[in-house]
Amino acid sequence: MSTEHFFEAYRGTPPWDIGRHQPAFERALREGDITGPVLDAGCGTGENALYLAAQGFAAAGVDAVPAAIEAARAKALARGLPADFVVGDALDLGALGRRFATVIDSGMFHTFDDGERERFRDSLAAVLEPGGRYLVLCFSERERGDGGPRRVTREELRATFERPPFRVLSIEPALIASNLRGGRKAWFARVTRLAEGEEPSADG
Ligand SMILES: C[S@@+](CC[C@H](N)C(=O)[O-])C[C@H]1O[C@@H](n2cnc3c(N)ncnc32)[C@H](O)[C@@H]1O
Repeated sequence: MSTEHFFEAYRGTPPWDIGRHQPAFERALREGDITGPVLDAGCGTGENALYLAAQGFAAAGVDAVPAAIEAARAKALARGLPADFVVGDALDLGALGRRFATVIDSGMFHTFDDGERERFRDSLAAVLEPGGRYLVLCFSERERGDGGPRRVTREELRATFERPPFRVLSIEPALIASNLRGGRKAWFARVTRLAEGEEPSADG
């Protein structure tokens, strides 16, 4: 999907821009899944990166839409948090010239078409440290009805990330909090980048 839609969306308050972090990442933090430095890919106005910065992590965010990044920077300044936000393409994360122990993704992967999923996989490999984690919250096919983003199945997540240099650690049902009534059915997937010399496990 082109990012044009998002330029338009940030002229107002989009349904996903809930003014706080997604609970799924709070849980991930509690369960020890997050180590720094952290990159929030497709960070929007930055709430998830800012949440992690407030917990003491070195956190950065990247998004294609300048208005979203400006809003994220303004929040970081207002809250006195050191998170840094840059306009950039998540399909070319290598251009950031940095590496991260954790990459989080709240609602971006599900916006990609098939080709973009493959490009994102390569892009992620360029910035995620060996042994690092990619934590993704995406709409699931269990979310019925029309409208909203493309649904993602467990099988599709595995098809993208269950091969070197990545391995899927878990895919669990979750909710995406939204400004619309009720949460949206989602998957929360934990993916690791294999450490140097590590073999993908037979059971995946
Ligand atoms: C559904 S929104 C979620 C925003 C934010 N993560 C949140 O939870 O509020 C998806 C975000 O991904 C961004 N995005 C989509 N494709 C992108 C790309 N190729 N590069 C950078 N950002 C992208 C959009 O601009 C948008 O901010």
